Amino acid sequence: MAMTEASAAPAILFEAVSKRFDDTVVLDNVSFTVQRGEAVCIMGPSGTGKTTLLRLVNALTTPDSGRIRVDRFDVTSPILEKQALRLHVGTVFQRYSLFPHKSALENVSMGQRQVLGRHKAAAEEKARDLLAKLEIDELRDRYPGELSAGQQQRVALARALAMDPQIVLLDEVTAALDPRMVDKVASLLRDLAATGMSFLASSHDGRFVSSLSDKVGYLSHGQLSDLQPPAAEMPTVERAPADSPPAQL
Ligand SMILES: Nc1ncnc2c1ncn2[C@@H]1O[C@H](COP(=O)(O)OP(=O)(O)O)[C@@H](O)[C@H]1O
Ligand SMILES: [Mg+2]
Repeated sequence: MAMTEASAAPAILFEAVSKRFDDTVVLDNVSFTVQRGEAVCIMGPSGTGKTTLLRLVNALTTPDSGRIRVDRFDVTSPILEKQALRLHVGTVFQRYSLFPHKSALENVSMGQRQVLGRHKAAAEEKARDLLAKLEIDELRDRYPGELSAGQQQRVALARALAMDPQIVLLDEVTAALDPRMVDKVASLLRDLAATGMSFLASSHDGRFVSSLSDKVGYLSHGQLSDLQPPAAEMPTVERAPADSPPAQL
């Protein structure tokens, strides 16, 4: 495939990015690149800054120094168009915040209709296709409160993917999934990466990381290791304690 100038630009570029909260240095001079169509996973123990790193990508938080680019967006520019950036970058975070009074199907089709202007039938067809791929189409009329954590997680994933983002941020998306479903999700995301969608994921789950990623980095004490292809069998990093509060998303 001929590379145009635009497609040759990295999907995500961090250059010497630093971020601290009061006395805690979370990211210290972090640089890395996610190419178009690439899936990169960030591993590391709880509290090392994985969520913060993801939040920097779609400008939910700002770095103290350094430069962040996402395709054509200069994320560190004061005139960043945040709305446009967030259409370009889909997110599935630890707190998946589904609309509680909307069914699973409505949760996945609403944004498509309201933001992308898709017709009801097209939006619902897309929603049902994704829900079916995630094996929850038969639960499409349930409300989030009637779904398990893992089912809600899959609805949130379907909702993000239904918007056809160029880049998807995934924060611990397999935490509530069993191994078979982890494989299923990884395989769906691999298929999307083959179409040019790019992924930046945080995960503790070695199984997910080895099946999803082209490259893996470890975040520890503010430092991100060089991104490397994953080993075939990645160890699962020690799980976040259930009571550790995720950064608010
Ligand atoms: N909004 C915030 N205000 C103050 N400290 C924060 C905030 N968000 C995260 N932190 C701190 O930054 C560190 C990294 O947090 P986080 O990015 O959530 O790590 P991880 O996702 O790897 O568990 C933690 O010490 C956390 O307490
Ligand atoms: Mg986190």
